[in-house]
Amino acid sequence: MKETLSNIREHLQKEGFVYLCRWAYRRVRDKWYERRLGIDTHGFIQWDDLGEDPDSVDYEPIEYTYLNVILDRCNIQAEQDTFIDYGAGKGRPVIHAARRPFKKVIGVELSSDLCAVANQNVENAKSKLACQDVEIVNMDATRFQVPDDASVIFFYNPFTGHLLESVAERIRESLERAPRKLTIAYVYPHWKQSDFFADFDWLTKRDELPGDPLEKCKVSFYESVVDVFTSAREQQSAAATCTPLGGALPSGDIPVDPVPAEAATL
Ligand SMILES: C[S@@+](CC[C@H](N)C(=O)[O-])C[C@H]1O[C@@H](n2cnc3c(N)ncnc32)[C@H](O)[C@@H]1O
Repeated sequence: MKETLSNIREHLQKEGFVYLCRWAYRRVRDKWYERRLGIDTHGFIQWDDLGEDPDSVDYEPIEYTYLNVILDRCNIQAEQDTFIDYGAGKGRPVIHAARRPFKKVIGVELSSDLCAVANQNVENAKSKLACQDVEIVNMDATRFQVPDDASVIFFYNPFTGHLLESVAERIRESLERAPRKLTIAYVYPHWKQSDFFADFDWLTKRDELPGDPLEKCKVSFYESVVDVFTSAREQQSAAATCTPLGGALPSGDIPVDPVPAEAATL
């Protein structure tokens, strides 16, 4: 209660009355969702409690209202799409996504404490979920191998720098193994970070949500460029069929020179 009152005072002083009303409305909506689902994902947990890497970001859940707008734009294909939330925290986006007809929903989270809370939340909400295949993976996101049927990937600013680079590489590797349509919804604080996925030739920007005044974030939606991966495959198989033996030589197999004619007659 004390915390809520000091938050209200801070927002009133900093941003004014209209902002305060919108902020309060969203807080009430958040509480309403949590109560309906029987879960508790609220709170702020500082990086010190989460790990050592300065590129990891603190735990703070996304607002339900904002999450709804994002999920609406992901063009979900019922019973076909697999959703991943990188940096799943206490499981809010995982559970909220699983209320839609995804085939599977996965949350990857570094902190084992947060994973325990997320698992409990999933258990509590299970009877209200459309998707029953929900998994919380307790792992550093950089070590998580992207399943080759993952099709919607969500980031609510979980990490930056080398962590994000290495996760992007894991995603690219998965697309190389299994070229397919994949959507990335990247939520980031535009006033301090750049649109990280903008420069990859295997992604194209499909859409953008302008900065949300309350979340102070922007959302960029990317889609995989399937041609990049299929044409690379075609080139590889064309190169393989052009080798003299109809394929690459296994390493260690050295072609034997033909026996010189004079030697053959001896
Ligand atoms: C801003 S919170 C987002 C939480 C959740 N996605 C949500 O919207 O409610 C970022 C989360 O990323 C997690 N995280 C940070 N670095 C991570 C890493 N290397 N691997 C997995 N999770 C990480 C943090 O523990 C934290 O829970």
